[in-house]
Amino acid sequence: MNTIKVNYNNMLSRVLGSQGITDKQIESIVPALQQARLNVENNRGQGMQGWMDSPYNQDKAVQDILKTAKDVQSRCDAFVVLGIGGSALGATALFNAFKHLYYNELPRKTRKYPRLYVIDNVDPERMNALFDVIDVENTVFNVITKSGSTSETMSQYLIITDILERKLGAKAKDNIIATTSASKGNLIKLAKEKGYTTFYIDEGVGGRFSVLSPVGLLPAAVIGIDIAKLLEGAREMDEKCKNAEVMQNPALVSAGLQYIAMKQGKNISVMMPYADSLKYFADWYAQLWAESLGKEVDKNGKLVNAGQTPVKALGVTDQHSQVQLYNEGPFDKVITFIEVKNFRSDVTIPNGCKEYPNVNFLCGHSLSELINNELFATRYNLTRRGRMNYTIEMDEINECNIGALIELLQLQTAYAGELLNIDAYNQPGVEGGKDATYALFGRVGYEDKAAEMEKAPADDNNYII
Ligand code: PA5
Repeated sequence: MNTIKVNYNNMLSRVLGSQGITDKQIESIVPALQQARLNVENNRGQGMQGWMDSPYNQDKAVQDILKTAKDVQSRCDAFVVLGIGGSALGATALFNAFKHLYYNELPRKTRKYPRLYVIDNVDPERMNALFDVIDVENTVFNVITKSGSTSETMSQYLIITDILERKLGAKAKDNIIATTSASKGNLIKLAKEKGYTTFYIDEGVGGRFSVLSPVGLLPAAVIGIDIAKLLEGAREMDEKCKNAEVMQNPALVSAGLQYIAMKQGKNISVMMPYADSLKYFADWYAQLWAESLGKEVDKNGKLVNAGQTPVKALGVTDQHSQVQLYNEGPFDKVITFIEVKNFRSDVTIPNGCKEYPNVNFLCGHSLSELINNELFATRYNLTRRGRMNYTIEMDEINECNIGALIELLQLQTAYAGELLNIDAYNQPGVEGGKDATYALFGRVGYEDKAAEMEKAPADDNNYII
């Protein structure tokens, strides 16, 4: 059973005074919230809301994933994810949440499972660095791209297959697993032609909503994460959020509060977990929130320039970097804390400074007390200064809680999309940059774009110093 709770006291005027959200404001959006929930519910499993079925319809996929994971564990030393955006961020978040923070550096006997690397960029130094730490013959590469055509992922794929085929010939296919659409794109064609083990991404599961599909589940299973429990936690949260009673539905409440906050000019959503193991969870959330809600036009084509800029922060580290701004800068943020009540291991601060009372007060306390007291203190101070914040609490980091947390944030995003009346599942803003890249590489079909770019004014050297 998951222990996720959303504590939103510090969003309300009863706590924040004039900076907070009033009961009247909440009441005024209840009909919109009910409609948002209905719209999401009525489209469950339809169109791009296939992700809502992920916690329920993957019994067969889970069996296949576990079988493949076992095989991979038995024959390789490293597992490398080749992908970008939604095809990479989920695996990184899960890896960081559940495995030892220096997992790849542990000896195999201690870590039990293959090392994991997620290569979510085309930085040449990073690619070369990977080759310094893996033996490609002893590595399985999971190339993940739903569209089967993303330039970054296909470049990575070409580099890897070239090396593997030169070293292993026809056997190279055993070192590649494809995760892609069953019907669209080039990767599925290549997978069939070359005979790769293949996992499918349902058409209704977009990249940023795909962590609970084979996209995130296969890498997770390879490193020994209990994927059935992840799905169980997601199911529990989904069931909870089927509640039509607005104030009993945590994803709907948090979507509503964020929506009111946005209307009040809070254009920034800070995600600040107080646990190193959730640091990359904030990266995953940043993509989900930014790419889903950041839209130029609403569903009626009206110009809205919607969205809230996500900021990733880590407690307590960023108390010494960003919290000054959160306390005293513009009133333009909602801060979401993630609180983990019990850490999986702890350290006691030893005695040894009796003669220095300003240091000695720490002695005998644990680091978990220190980190959580600092969260309490930071939250207290922000609240006292009228800064909107709320906390997602969990007893501990385990698969059930993380599955529930993922589902909570995915549902919150879907509801927020409805409240803003935008399409949360497209990303037209990304296409412009992709098309310009294709034009720069002379890709057939992009001649007009290339001609347009030719005409664009060049940088003026007078303004380069
Ligand atoms: O959320 C999304 O849809 C995107 O971020 C995609 O995940 C990203 O662009 C990669 O796409 P693909 O999986 O098709 O390679």
